[in-house]
Amino acid sequence: MRVLSGIQPSGRPHLGNYFSMMRRMIEYQARSDLYCFIASYHSLTTVTDGKQLSEQTLGVAIDFLALGMDPERSVFWVQSDVPEVLELAWLLSMHITVPQMELAHSYKDKVAQGISPSGGLFFYPVLMTADILLFGAERVPVGRDQKQHLEMARDICGRFNNAYGETFIMPEADILHTVATVPGIDGRKMSKSYNNAIYPFAPEKELRKSIMAIQTDSTPVDEPKNPEGSALYDIFALFLDEQGRTNLAERFRTPGEGYGHIKQDLYLTVLEYFGSYREKHAELSKRPDDIRDMLKSGAARARATARPFLERARERVGLIY
Ligand code: ADP
Ligand code: TRP
Repeated sequence: MRVLSGIQPSGRPHLGNYFSMMRRMIEYQARSDLYCFIASYHSLTTVTDGKQLSEQTLGVAIDFLALGMDPERSVFWVQSDVPEVLELAWLLSMHITVPQMELAHSYKDKVAQGISPSGGLFFYPVLMTADILLFGAERVPVGRDQKQHLEMARDICGRFNNAYGETFIMPEADILHTVATVPGIDGRKMSKSYNNAIYPFAPEKELRKSIMAIQTDSTPVDEPKNPEGSALYDIFALFLDEQGRTNLAERFRTPGEGYGHIKQDLYLTVLEYFGSYREKHAELSKRPDDIRDMLKSGAARARATARPFLERARERVGLIY
């Protein structure tokens, strides 16, 4: 089975990215044909500083590799190193209407925030569809915020195949409900752009500070606290098995347990969980040229898969004469 997903280099990956997408992609490597890329073109919709985008692209690659992405076993590359995806996006864009594109939450949300949307932001879901169809992906592991984009990808795929005959494989979203939306330290969705994220590779001081800043209610220490709807509980639960979660909920309900203690334990848990990955991260950070080489060879492999899909689409729509 071919599994594919992408992550934007719009900042450092955080716990939400890790649990809903990165960890699952790393696990999939053992039992699927895995394709994973860094969505640099997509990040152009939000990152306007070229130096920053370029640094973050390498940064996301290092994080992913430290966490266990294996470039020998899987195809791991930077989206813009296989620009064929832009050509496919153009061909696919004929199979979605403007009113349908106007329904995308990613676009509507920005408009609602008063942002004047760029053409690129509007086109975002079509490019994402091309990312998926160009490599014949069957399954796409993502967080819940990408559900609608996957539905749009399926619509476009169906319409293209109807118009020109079976050309692309119909992809399916793979959303794990337990980690579908990881809350940030302010209780909203954890996001690189809300300044509310916890970063697994942050220096210890920063990591501790972000965990200590998780918002909690004002229940006094000597009263029971409610784990439901608590961002602290939800974030801590990501690291626990069922028994651990029951114990944590019990701890919340026990008068005398302060939030401060629980946060300190969460900090130690996060450090321990990511301990060996943090060491690997420090080691990889010293070898940027090796990482670049590895990404370039990943792109060559990605391109080899992409070419036949693109050639077939070019032929079907009549670009070969
Ligand atoms: P961000 O929203 O932080 O900019 P990306 O758009 O690059 O992150 O998302 C990469 C992957 O991580 C996607 O599959 C997305 O659904 C998932 N993701 C992002 N934020 C969260 C979150 N808070 N909870 C669960 N999954 C998330
Ligand atoms: N839009 C995705 C996000 O923000 C990133 C992405 C781009 C992606 N292309 C993709 C995810 C293709 C899965 C498949 O998270």
